[in-house]
Amino acid sequence: MYYPFWDTSLSYGMLMAVISILHVFISHFAIGGGLYLVITETFARKRNDQAMLDYLQRLSKFFLLVTLVLGALSGVAIWFIIGLLNPSATEVLIHHFVWAWAIEWTFFVIEIAAAIVYYYGWQRMSARDHLAIGWVYFGAAWLSLFVINGIITFMLTPGAWTATGNIWDGFFNPTFWPSLFYRTGICVLLAGLYAMVVAARSKDVSLKARTARRNAAFGLIGLAIVVPTFFWYWQAIPGDLIANAQETMPATMRTIWESYLYIVLLVLVLILYGLVMPKRLNMVVAVVLMAAGLGYFGSFEFFRESVRKPYVITDYMYGNTLEVAKTAEYREGGYLAGIEFRTGDDGADLFRHVCRHCHTLDGYKPLLPAFEGVDREFIASMVRGSEAMKGNMPPFMGSSGEALMIGEYLHGRTDNRHLSEIYDVEGVQLGQKVYEVRCGRCHEIGGYNDKSESLIGLDDEDYLDLLDMAGEFADEMPDFTGDDEERAALIEFLKTIGKEQGGAL
Ligand code: HEC
Ligand code: HEC
Repeated sequence: MYYPFWDTSLSYGMLMAVISILHVFISHFAIGGGLYLVITETFARKRNDQAMLDYLQRLSKFFLLVTLVLGALSGVAIWFIIGLLNPSATEVLIHHFVWAWAIEWTFFVIEIAAAIVYYYGWQRMSARDHLAIGWVYFGAAWLSLFVINGIITFMLTPGAWTATGNIWDGFFNPTFWPSLFYRTGICVLLAGLYAMVVAARSKDVSLKARTARRNAAFGLIGLAIVVPTFFWYWQAIPGDLIANAQETMPATMRTIWESYLYIVLLVLVLILYGLVMPKRLNMVVAVVLMAAGLGYFGSFEFFRESVRKPYVITDYMYGNTLEVAKTAEYREGGYLAGIEFRTGDDGADLFRHVCRHCHTLDGYKPLLPAFEGVDREFIASMVRGSEAMKGNMPPFMGSSGEALMIGEYLHGRTDNRHLSEIYDVEGVQLGQKVYEVRCGRCHEIGGYNDKSESLIGLDDEDYLDLLDMAGEFADEMPDFTGDDEERAALIEFLKTIGKEQGGAL
């Protein structure tokens, strides 16, 4: 809350996802591609295979352009965007890992210099020196992964660091080793996939077949490392983080398993066009392979970012930059006092600092539609109880007055007509809508924190009592503040739960 807030209509999550997935897809290739070049060059030199050496030279041009231009630009873009989206978390990472960053950048400079010398050295250097420079490139590139892997894994599993504050505990944290091996596997896989693009353009059919076979071997070896190390990685994440994510975000957690379909696709296509009929390799196949690789690796990164919710640094800082250690301070004095840059509209400032990191008003994960047709007090209760909703949100630690200011801010911008008018429904249908808006975000029928058991088979009197006492069930649960029409419709709907037509709703 020490930084001004960058309020764009763009979604923070999407911006981050697009830029970072592009960057990791390139930067892991930058490492694996180096290994591919030196290993293949060694073989080609031994066999005096000039056609292969020519192909490698072409590949190294493609490699230089992709890694140095796109890799470096997207890397800078990440710094730019995390500084805008979450300056507080960026500050924590820079502050604690300043030497690690310095070391990482040193390796990066060595990597860039070696890549340039390697490319221009094809004709100018002796075979031995050229290969040596290739190995320097790969070594520096992999070491930069080693360093940055410590920082990225720290954000998900800071491990003993949370208690000891010792930077080595944070760096060599519980997911450090599995992630390092996993990412090394990804590097090898991507080297094979990218090289298919260059191989597919080859006019010499015998050369194409030889390179396709080699590329497929890289791809398959990469996958053979990726699959088991993912399980190792999964095991290393504390069980409560996984259990929490599975309970509050089942759909996100399912996508990581669904993404294994990409692996099946990769294995099949690599075997078919790499080993069975490598001469038939063409650009379409190469593009399919790249897309499947991007799809798989993108899902992994999405999983990694999701599983640490509601935190940006587990147990240390929430996704909205609020520090866990300041819980007591916020609970006592509220949030406003700690917001350094104020616009004069307290409701807007609070909304931005507390909710806006993950939600927009009306774009991605929009909040205005979620609060159509409800009253200000209800929105305020939902703000106070956001921890109990599905979605794995940080607890609200501000004062009741601040929750009301957020309620007012959102209420003033959303559609305030009656639910029956907005959705043109009445009776049971209206009741279902009321349930969705006023109960369903914390109690999904047949899903998250389902309360159907307690809601089935009551009589009218019991239902009325239940709604009258709603706010007393739990601190997070709102009072029922809908009008009489909504109350009657909700009760009509509650009576259908578990019945035939209720099940169909
Ligand atoms: C750390 C990220 C994060 C923060 C901060 C956050 N939320 Fe959420 N919220 C989520 C996620 C994730 C979901 C689930 C969205 C989904 O299911 O697609 C969600 C869902 C919701 C929903 C249900 C939306 C729907 O259409 O069903 C509401 C309402 C909501 N949040 C309100 C808030 C409010 C109010 C705040 C601020 C007090 C807030 N959230 C802060 C991540 C966050
Ligand atoms: C902001 C979240 C939230 C909303 C919205 C919400 N509840 Fe709850 N509800 C809770 C919490 C938290 C508890 C108590 C802890 C628990 O069991 O999860 C609870 C408990 C209950 C219980 C007690 C269940 C039992 O254990 O017997 C019932 C019944 C219930 N809610 C029904 C409703 C109905 C009906 C609505 C809509 C009018 C509603 N809730 C809206 C959060 C919410």
